[in-house]
Amino acid sequence: MAKAKYVLAVDQGTTGTHVSILDDKLRVVGSAYREFTQHFPKPSWVEHDLEEIWATVEQCIRRALKDADLEGKDISAVGITNQRETTGLWTRGDGKPLGHAIVWQDRRTSEHCAKLREQGEEPRVRQTTGLVLDPYFSGTKLSWMMEHVKGARKRAEKGDACFGTIDTWLVYKMTGGLVHVTDVSNASRTLLMDVSKLQWDEGMRNLFGVPASCLPEIRGSAEVYGTTKGMRGLPDGIPISGMAGDQQSALFGQACFTPGESKCTYGTGAFLLMNTGDAPVFSKAGLLTTVAWRIGDKTSYALEGSSFIAGAAVQWLRDGLKVIKKASDVEPLAASVKESGDVVFVPALAGLGAPHWRPEARGLFAGIDRSTTVAHLARAALEGVAMQIHDLAEAMRRDSGREIPSFKVDGGASANNLMMQFQADMLGTEVVRPQNLQTTSLGAAFLAGLGAGVWKDTDAIRRAWKVGKVFKPKMKPEARERYLTKWRRAVERA
Ligand code: G3P
Repeated sequence: MAKAKYVLAVDQGTTGTHVSILDDKLRVVGSAYREFTQHFPKPSWVEHDLEEIWATVEQCIRRALKDADLEGKDISAVGITNQRETTGLWTRGDGKPLGHAIVWQDRRTSEHCAKLREQGEEPRVRQTTGLVLDPYFSGTKLSWMMEHVKGARKRAEKGDACFGTIDTWLVYKMTGGLVHVTDVSNASRTLLMDVSKLQWDEGMRNLFGVPASCLPEIRGSAEVYGTTKGMRGLPDGIPISGMAGDQQSALFGQACFTPGESKCTYGTGAFLLMNTGDAPVFSKAGLLTTVAWRIGDKTSYALEGSSFIAGAAVQWLRDGLKVIKKASDVEPLAASVKESGDVVFVPALAGLGAPHWRPEARGLFAGIDRSTTVAHLARAALEGVAMQIHDLAEAMRRDSGREIPSFKVDGGASANNLMMQFQADMLGTEVVRPQNLQTTSLGAAFLAGLGAGVWKDTDAIRRAWKVGKVFKPKMKPEARERYLTKWRRAVERA
């Protein structure tokens, strides 16, 4: 009998690192998860320690192998998927981080973005990169590092510093510092890549003051980038053969291979992506044009609506307001009241993303009176997350000229039945949740398996995708309209 093949997927997310091991039927045979520290050095600043992230990756790999009762040598290929845009800088050679990484949620470069907009740079940026001038993306974060991190610019100009998003950092570490690459889906989130040519753009590099020598090489999403070297947990020589940003990886894991197919992932933030086929579609409604993946010489593009706060709202109820003990308590608390009353929550805790793009906006509870309880606040928080997605879906319909026939969801917070039912009610569309909510890892494992030749085509992933639960819209149109009116008023005030 042929020896079973196992693929290991690292999903390095904003709040934690998740490692899963899948067999060649795409069944999860072992997994591990670890949260890590969020640094908030100033209001609206968010940072991560790259070394701590790397430590969680190595630990989770060892634990997942133990969980699967496997040894490192049993792994045929490694796939990486990651929180996107988060910007790191380290020294070439010894791989020492030059300060903390600046996280995608960090708003410190709001003023820089506003200044560039005033100078009339926005149209050129949109046309070249498919993105907008917002602190969300890596471009202005890297400019900030070049100006404020001691020695950064000098080192970068001499070729002694490496810039990277988290995918780049992890491949660098996994290969013992030998490989400095990124994949095209991650590169498409930096503001530095020409989204049509799939190359770093000199005009954008100059605009953000980024020396060419610190940029990684842009590669496809399923190919061998290098092999493991000097890692704890995995022996040398295992190919790292698949990489994609977490949202693109989830689109892949949800088997959205045909133009028009879309998914929404509710993680720390919530991200709605629609496959738009082999050419970039530029948005008129505030959405982003992004690369979904490139496999061989075939590139797939997507339109994306990014909202920055989803699971993070529940985390804030837990850690900030302390009204729940664990994240899963939010559903029974919210369900203990029939409706949110007049309370509306705008989850602009890190500014507003698509389609509004208002980095200066801040969160808001509106409509509170003396009858309001924490249960109303919890319910309004879940509704607010779903309302943002409603706005993104509307923008997506306008841009693509397509209806979204059924709405595939995934990610940790999609386990919340109350929120998913409300989502279906607001969209007026069926919401379909697969059995396996870890579609991000599934996508990365599958890309790695494709890159290493474990699978030949995408049929296996279509076969592995199974419906878990369908939420059908039930709300009366008048009630829906009332919710939307309250929401729109609150968003204007946020
Ligand atoms: O663009 C940010 C996104 O990649 C973060 O994803 O799952 O960590 O919220 P997540």
